[in-house]
Amino acid sequence: MAKPRILVTRRWPEAVEARLSEEFDTVLNTADRPLSLSDFRAALTEYDAVLPTVTDRLGPEALEVARPRTRILANYGVGYSHIDMDHAARHGMRVTNTPDVLSECTADLAMTLLLMAARRAGEGEREVRAGRWTGWRPTHLVGTKVSGKVLGIVGFGRIGREMARRAHHGFGMEVIVHNRSAVDPRILAQYGARQADSIDALLPQCDFVSLHCPGGTANRHLIDARRLNLMRADAYLINTARGEVVEESALLQALAFDTIAGAALDVFEGEPAVNPAMRDYDNLVMLPHLGSATREAREAMGFRVLDNLRDFFEGRDPRDRVN
Ligand code: DGY
Repeated sequence: MAKPRILVTRRWPEAVEARLSEEFDTVLNTADRPLSLSDFRAALTEYDAVLPTVTDRLGPEALEVARPRTRILANYGVGYSHIDMDHAARHGMRVTNTPDVLSECTADLAMTLLLMAARRAGEGEREVRAGRWTGWRPTHLVGTKVSGKVLGIVGFGRIGREMARRAHHGFGMEVIVHNRSAVDPRILAQYGARQADSIDALLPQCDFVSLHCPGGTANRHLIDARRLNLMRADAYLINTARGEVVEESALLQALAFDTIAGAALDVFEGEPAVNPAMRDYDNLVMLPHLGSATREAREAMGFRVLDNLRDFFEGRDPRDRVN
């Protein structure tokens, strides 16, 4: 029987690409060039499986194909708000993602951002690199203590819980969570956490707020001007979730008028484009979407996609189906 024909839309870790090529009739994107809308539409008529990433916009236009050959979109990443799920369903396409395997690394990066913002690490590094450091002094780049402070976590899924573990057990932080559904008190107890009734109730209580909810239209601008105003003037906002969750223009206002102390972003509303005004804010830390960027996580994500493909093409329900 002919092997399923699959398209990998970006470069993946070598070990995973090699295995995919052994098991399937695989086309790799060795140039790592992002695919265009027309590339996608063509791909959906030529491949049994397309393996997209967060940089692929699989919105209604890309999925508007009369008779697609593609039966599964096996996404490389846990978030899939870049895929139009209604259109995928209309075509009867299975969609899968890669949960679990990146949770620890993404939480590590959220904690990195939290620490960088609180301890002004970006500012300090820029100063040393620019040759502007004039020496130690008691008032130099004084930041905020992290240990023992209150952390609010919005979205208490796998990554949110890993963040809570680090914050509570590593830094002795008090953890308050907001989650759509009620969290089992025994789980909360593992992180010394309590659940707030609403985001609005959580925000004024926190020294740090870290976002770990999904993106997509449901959570677009979840943190808007009104909610930023509920944060304390000495509090910090951390976003490793999705850019659209924070209303960036409102965040810049809050930073400009010091209604919050600072923010740290790994994700942006129009990424990879970043509003040039953001570069002027010293109280804003920015990283280029590095949440899962470790060798270990990126390989594990790839092998998780492979598991999903094997399940699907061997007639089983893929372990990470999301529709
Ligand atoms: C994820 O897994 O969702 C990361 O943000 C990369 O897409």
